[in-house]
Amino acid sequence: MKNVILDVDTGIDDALALSYAVHSPELNILGVTTTFGNISASEATRNTLQLLKVLGAEDIPVYQGVNQTFAGHEPADKATSIHGENGIGDAQLPAADKKAEDMIAHDFIISSVHKYPNDITIITTGTQGNLARAIQKDPQIVHLVKDVILMGGAVTVPGNITPYAEANIYHDPEAAQFTFQSGIPMTFVGLDVTMKTLLKRTVLDEWREKDTLLSRSLADMCDFYMDAYARNNPELNGCALHDPLTVGIAIDPSFVKTKTMSVNVKTEGAEKGQTVGIENPEGNIKVCLEVDVDRFVEHFLDWVCLSLIKN
Ligand code: BDR
Ligand code: CA
Repeated sequence: MKNVILDVDTGIDDALALSYAVHSPELNILGVTTTFGNISASEATRNTLQLLKVLGAEDIPVYQGVNQTFAGHEPADKATSIHGENGIGDAQLPAADKKAEDMIAHDFIISSVHKYPNDITIITTGTQGNLARAIQKDPQIVHLVKDVILMGGAVTVPGNITPYAEANIYHDPEAAQFTFQSGIPMTFVGLDVTMKTLLKRTVLDEWREKDTLLSRSLADMCDFYMDAYARNNPELNGCALHDPLTVGIAIDPSFVKTKTMSVNVKTEGAEKGQTVGIENPEGNIKVCLEVDVDRFVEHFLDWVCLSLIKN
């Protein structure tokens, strides 16, 4: 089993990623860290704890991150039109029984990496502050992390929050730039591949028929998400599985083909949040450029469906 930490801003597609990861026999989730992005860090914590309860996985500890950008600013507005006022498409989940742990997210990352040297993969699907703060506090971890699988950015296609920038990078560009430049080994899962991985609306009817709390909740969340996609990307007739693809790659790296690059983030001006990739065989970042869409989506649906039946 692969030891993983999931770093999330739960978020509808983060919720799908967690649902995919939790019952995977290939992954051992050591903990979930939360950050701001789609919503504030505390809202991400609330959503994560509630979802883990619905998933029957309340034993997985949750660690909240700092609700400030790496440069020390308040987070920008929430992504209400895409993820709803509560971050999960206004789906109502039962209150969690547990709270977040006392340790702050970046300290949990540092202590886990030392406990399992070269045996931890960090899957990150929100802004990069937790990882950036962990590296800033203990630069040694750069050499002790097996891989960071990051959803964010784009090197060959336009952005989604501005013509230049993808949302996770845009909301904390300094954190992303610091992380990318640190030399930490990374698999960069950007819009180049995630915009090809589509969940079709017809799947939601099948989920609803299973009639479990999880199946109804995820279908409600995805309906909200797909309405947003219908407004912004009507040609897709569904929604992109951005965050689940990172989990898929942790399970089976052969879902994607990569090129080794160095990646720079623009932190200011109209192009703020743009990620510029330059091919570099000595670089630390494997940028995903191709994805086996059918095989990945089928795998995702199989495993999420198992969760739906159980929960
Ligand atoms: C990314 O931004 C967030 O809105 C999603 O959860 C995903 O992580 C897509 O650009
Ligand atoms: Ca996310």
